[in-house]
Amino acid sequence: MNFGIQVNGRPFETEPRAGQCLRTYLRERGWFGVKKGCDAGDCGACTVHVDGEPVHSCLYPAVRARGRSVTTVEGLASPEGELHPVQQRFLDAQGFQCGFCTAGFVMTTAALEEEKGRTHDDGKLGDLPRAFKGNLCRCTGYRAIEDAVRGIKHAERPGAGAAVGKNLGAPAGPQVVTGTARYTFDVDVPGLLHMKLLRSPHPHARILAIDTSAALRVPGVHAVLTHEDAPARLYSSARHEHPTEDPDDTRVLDDVVRFVGQRVAAVVADSEQAAEEGCRRIEVTYEELPYVTDPEEAMRPGAPVIHTGKGSQERIARVENNVAGEVHGEIGSVDDGLAEAAVVYEETFRTQRVQHASLETHGCVAYFEPKEDGTGQRLTVRSSTQTPFLTRRALCALFGLPEDEVRVVAGRVGGGFGGKQEVLVEDIVTLAALRLRRPVKLEFTRAEQFYGATTRHPFTIGIKVGARTDGTLTAIQMRVVADTGAYGNHGPGVMFHSVGESFAIYRAPHKKVDAYSVYTNTVPSGAFRGYGLSQTTFAVESAMDEVARRLGMDPLDFREKNVIGPGDHMITPIGHDEDLYIASYGLDQCLSIVRSAITKDRSTEEVPEGWLTGQGTALAMIATAPPNGHYADATVTLLADGTYDLAVGTAEFGNGTTTVHKQITAGALHTTVDRIGIRQSDTDVVRHDTGAFGSAGTVVAGKAVILAADSLAGRLKTFAARYTGVPRHLCTLDAEAVDCAGRSVTLKELYEAAHAQGAEAELTADGYWGGSPRSVAFNAQWFRVAVDPQTGEMRILRSVHAADAGNVMNPLQCRGQVEGGVAQALGATLFEAVRIDERGEVTTAAFRRYRLPQYADVPRTEVHFMETSDSTGPLGAKSMSESPFNPVAPAFTNALYDATGIRFTETPLTRDRVWLAMRRQAARRSESSP
Ligand code: FES
Repeated sequence: MNFGIQVNGRPFETEPRAGQCLRTYLRERGWFGVKKGCDAGDCGACTVHVDGEPVHSCLYPAVRARGRSVTTVEGLASPEGELHPVQQRFLDAQGFQCGFCTAGFVMTTAALEEEKGRTHDDGKLGDLPRAFKGNLCRCTGYRAIEDAVRGIKHAERPGAGAAVGKNLGAPAGPQVVTGTARYTFDVDVPGLLHMKLLRSPHPHARILAIDTSAALRVPGVHAVLTHEDAPARLYSSARHEHPTEDPDDTRVLDDVVRFVGQRVAAVVADSEQAAEEGCRRIEVTYEELPYVTDPEEAMRPGAPVIHTGKGSQERIARVENNVAGEVHGEIGSVDDGLAEAAVVYEETFRTQRVQHASLETHGCVAYFEPKEDGTGQRLTVRSSTQTPFLTRRALCALFGLPEDEVRVVAGRVGGGFGGKQEVLVEDIVTLAALRLRRPVKLEFTRAEQFYGATTRHPFTIGIKVGARTDGTLTAIQMRVVADTGAYGNHGPGVMFHSVGESFAIYRAPHKKVDAYSVYTNTVPSGAFRGYGLSQTTFAVESAMDEVARRLGMDPLDFREKNVIGPGDHMITPIGHDEDLYIASYGLDQCLSIVRSAITKDRSTEEVPEGWLTGQGTALAMIATAPPNGHYADATVTLLADGTYDLAVGTAEFGNGTTTVHKQITAGALHTTVDRIGIRQSDTDVVRHDTGAFGSAGTVVAGKAVILAADSLAGRLKTFAARYTGVPRHLCTLDAEAVDCAGRSVTLKELYEAAHAQGAEAELTADGYWGGSPRSVAFNAQWFRVAVDPQTGEMRILRSVHAADAGNVMNPLQCRGQVEGGVAQALGATLFEAVRIDERGEVTTAAFRRYRLPQYADVPRTEVHFMETSDSTGPLGAKSMSESPFNPVAPAFTNALYDATGIRFTETPLTRDRVWLAMRRQAARRSESSP
């Protein structure tokens, strides 16, 4: 019997494989708009309509679709290509960032509206929280999605006039809403082999033997790779411009495993199923070793040593104490500072492991392509990475390959948040591809994302703050212990950064820090939005609130009195960072926004009887680019048709750099964004780019772009002057021509003239920026909250965020970054936690057990941009992708303190934890009352 399924009106007769889900069936037939996000019906990225009903196609057996009609996001538009109204609304509102979730939201909304027979553009959202229960977005904070559902138009069209400062929609918008944007795995590679990984069941063990013979006998298995096949060379999975920033403590496959979930072997087969079966057949003999999962214990003498045999050569600070990195410093004398204080507050704060949870998991596809010069083949690695160039560097170093033998390219990346500033898959896939000379793919499952990728570093922060009666800070002291997990990727960097701006934002004559990045036998931590600052900011901003209250001062007045000023140096206990200075100052404006929010608060939301309410603020400061060098190249070229080609190295994963780079180029060349094509995130397109991390996309790559575009504008005028014989200073550039004292030469004509002279090189220009000097950006978050003492239920009544992003290149996009950052931080503040058992094994390896913020969890945040212009950033801009995260947890706990009188010192603030604290407080009060 024929299968007889109709997909977007096209018949397909091939029977599905046994047990195959509809999502995989559709993707194998090229419907790549159906995304794979979780395998469990939790994220909704795979939503399609079956006979008009929305279903999670990852849970829907393909065989059940027999004889039915399936619509994917690609099939929503009319045959003439007219967008479905819901697609159009997502485009108009820019209801997405990375866009990986968008197809799912579009399909859910379309089905909802069909069912109701009306749109939501009357402002009535109905039961959207219920309708969107099955769809997750990690990037937007849901406001942009809600606006799309409402039919609110935000995005301007690319042809609109002067570009910088406009709310231009993402160039990839039409592809995102129609499901035709190509992410990492949306490619059809002939002859592709699939990889699966066998992972360690032990927290610490030596591999004595691996028997692969049974695995190799599984039909379809091509290779089984073990530590014996892997290079002996040690490296770090973390990617930084300078590899010396991280300890070299990792092997592609090791003969010692250091956490439950570490890869032990890789099986490559014709299908995922055969590779999985191969993994099951591998027999490993382990010698179990003692393990430690607590960082304080790990530092004690006699604790199991996790990286025996390594040391200073691998840049591990104290291997015998499991200290990957440490920093100690003092300015002034903290003892003296605390002695002169009228109030001293001392407390210990704790933060938990959090997963990036980008909806696109880690993965890559490696394959061989003919070299352009016809001298053989070279390896191409298509990866879900934030760092194509640094990934190529790592692969070349590991496998002894010259750089021209390897190309690394990223498609559109489905979210990163720092998690993809690592080499977690490309190394093992390259090993297999080089061995087999066949294309190989590895795509993490959602579960692997939790135990095989990285997390935010859990921190313990002991803090002491002293102040005089007049509210002048006298001393700040912190002891920071960051758990880097089994490997030191980003460990020293995160630790170092965590005690930078969090200290420097407050003036105090005496400051001291002791910070440690400590190995444990747990899943490795890594880079994550904020890079350590959110953890220490939680402690610092909570402490400032406490000290102010103990002095009887308004916490905002106290902050205003003690924060860094526009002419101040950036001083931490480690010293003065000469490269970092306040090139623009908007913190005063941030404080004013918060003050006005407090004084003019008109919260109208009804607070149920008996609930307590409170308000709280926190501040944050962040350097606008990473230290130690962050480099970007850009090239702008006039093309034969009179349009421009912009080449940049940085990756687009929802951060919006594509739009901003085009806007900057259009501004410099006096043209419109639609006349600029972009090639990016590909090691072939420019000389080098450190990567899309450290909020560098606008301030570093953007600066390279403006330098290139300005240079080309000058060249075009020079060429036009020569061509027309008119002095150069009389030539001006517009959208399609150069006007030289009334003689207009179109850009096409100019190109033809240059071509005739063999002078095309004059119509291209490069830009380079090294990310130095660096400025700082500021953020302030304010919440008004309500809490039910009977149940611990919390509600956010109002959320206000002030962001000093300098001259904002694209307010629509920047607002999305802020909203997304606040939403992500609220998840970490309230409920997200990667939990481990006593052996360090992750017990929350699914969205269902981890809990990501859903539509119903996230309030609308009022976002305000300050009016500043930065002298170091491109066109006055500062970065704003990481920093909105940082003040959220302390602003929330400060509000909760205001409501309850309880100082919460540990995240997440789960409802049961809050309820328990309030119950204990009530018990204490009743005990002490007569
Ligand atoms: Fe929703 Fe990225 S835009 S997950």
